Amino acid sequence: MAIKALVFDAYGTLFDVHTVAELCERTFPGKGMALSQLWRAKQLEYTWLRSLMGRYEDFARITADALRHACSALELKLEAAHLLRLMDAYDRLALFADAREALPALSGYKRAILSNGTPAMLDALVKHAGLERQLDALLSVDAARVFKPDPRVYQLAVDRLALPPPEIGFVSSNYWDAAGAKSFGFRVFWINRGGVTPDALGITPDAAMKSLAELPQHPA
Ligand code: LAC
Repeated sequence: MAIKALVFDAYGTLFDVHTVAELCERTFPGKGMALSQLWRAKQLEYTWLRSLMGRYEDFARITADALRHACSALELKLEAAHLLRLMDAYDRLALFADAREALPALSGYKRAILSNGTPAMLDALVKHAGLERQLDALLSVDAARVFKPDPRVYQLAVDRLALPPPEIGFVSSNYWDAAGAKSFGFRVFWINRGGVTPDALGITPDAAMKSLAELPQHPA
């Protein structure tokens, strides 16, 4: 079955979450990368924990909670103004250069984002990157009140795009998200920019590539 739509993960796939490392470094000299990494790790961990506990809070709240925890664990004093500035930076993450190149080349497909981000966060990212015309839909897990990789999240794309899972190509750099999408039934393209080792989940994406720039050449 040919793919009719491409659904992209946002954070880490189209947008570089470590854009905030620079601001973290300016705020806490010598600790920027450590803070950025722990912040992202805890942010994801909290999505999984809250989903398992059935205690959904939206991604903006989770992102702020993860930042508070990461600062506390690294013994960094997070002032209210720091929190505001760092959270604001999260709405202005850089678009990866290969994403800027690939999206227009994929205009023959319906293109959407499916992300843990809230509708407001996704809207801000897309506007900041000037991507409004490159995307047909911004889908947030907020509609399902559970996070990836819960199958109810991937179902949002099926419902909104009105296509069966094998006609949807799902694109993510996060292996756990790629695995969740593959387990759900999408055709999955894993973007492995960093050459990381796949998780041992017994689930393999349909294709792996080093850059989003390879996606337009890939046969559907
Ligand atoms: C997202 C996270 C998984 O955008 O990066 O959904």
